[in-house]
Amino acid sequence: MNASSPKSKNPVRKAAVAGLVGAAGLAAASSAGLIGRPEAPRGPRRVLITGAASGFGLELAKLFIARGDHVIATDLHDAANEAVAKLGDNCTYRKLDVTSDEDWAAAASEVGAVDVLVLNAGIAVGGAIENVSMDTWHRALEINLLGAVRGCRAFVPLLPRGAQIVMTASSAGLVHAFKMSTYNATKAAVVALAETVDFELRDRGITTSAICPQFFRSNLASSLSGDDAEADDFARTLLTKAPLTAAEVAERAMRGIDARRQVITPDRGATVSWYFKRFARPLYLTVMRRAGEDPQRLGKLLGR
Ligand SMILES: NC(=O)c1ccc[n+]([C@@H]2O[C@H](COP(=O)([O-])OP(=O)(O)OC[C@H]3O[C@@H](n4cnc5c(N)ncnc54)[C@H](O)[C@@H]3O)[C@@H](O)[C@H]2O)c1
Repeated sequence: MNASSPKSKNPVRKAAVAGLVGAAGLAAASSAGLIGRPEAPRGPRRVLITGAASGFGLELAKLFIARGDHVIATDLHDAANEAVAKLGDNCTYRKLDVTSDEDWAAAASEVGAVDVLVLNAGIAVGGAIENVSMDTWHRALEINLLGAVRGCRAFVPLLPRGAQIVMTASSAGLVHAFKMSTYNATKAAVVALAETVDFELRDRGITTSAICPQFFRSNLASSLSGDDAEADDFARTLLTKAPLTAAEVAERAMRGIDARRQVITPDRGATVSWYFKRFARPLYLTVMRRAGEDPQRLGKLLGR
């Protein structure tokens, strides 16, 4: 009898096969939402969003408010800017620099429990590995990664059963294009953080999602560091010429948030590139290596 036959008498192989089949079944059931899927909380919810004065955070705030939720919009400014002021009575604004332990402690004690915690604040960084300064690395890690870590540390103890944590990562956290190592590394870490926290908090009925869009139009280009002018120009072109607006991406992301998906790819480019990397890896490596050799090629691939 062939050793790989299902009727194999080898107990180690039988156990391994049974384990693999079980793990695959568990994974399929879990990703289909059949295991440990908490009930969605009912009625108006309290939603805290970081980086809500602009772009994606602002658009998510509008969507939550439109469905009757109360949003605590937070950002760097001392007072609400015009866009946040327009959000009306179902929105309160507070200053919250995500890099500040004091701001997080004050927010936790003054805001208290929230039903949805959206850790969205972030900056863009472009640049070849030898050109990005260590100061820029530290700044990006402080905002993009540790901002989300601090948010979890401050609010997880306060979250009620059924709550949701939503982290704005990026497609860059799933697939890693050249001359973006800083941004890629911070966003890949956010994807890992979200997955870990999701596993950790399921027993409290709390789910965690990582939103992973490709480029969309917002004010993100204004945060580019200037360490590598050529890479910044390229990133600025991709950000300003992106076909989707922050509002469109927020609307698509909201469907994933409602479904409590663990990883949300709200646009076709993000979905295709992620599937491509996982299921057609040799092709993915060929394309990404060629794009690294000729940066214009990536622009063409992305249709810009
Ligand atoms: N625009 C894109 O193409 C794109 C793609 C994938 C992911 N993202 C991510 O989406 C998120 C939102 O970015 P956006 O595109 O809406 O850009 P944006 O610049 O319009 O908004 C980012 C907001 O974060 C705030 N912010 C920056 N540093 C902060 C800090 N230390 N504390 C609190 N707030 C701070 C800014 O003031 C700004 O209001 C970011 O995490 C970004 O990395 C953007």
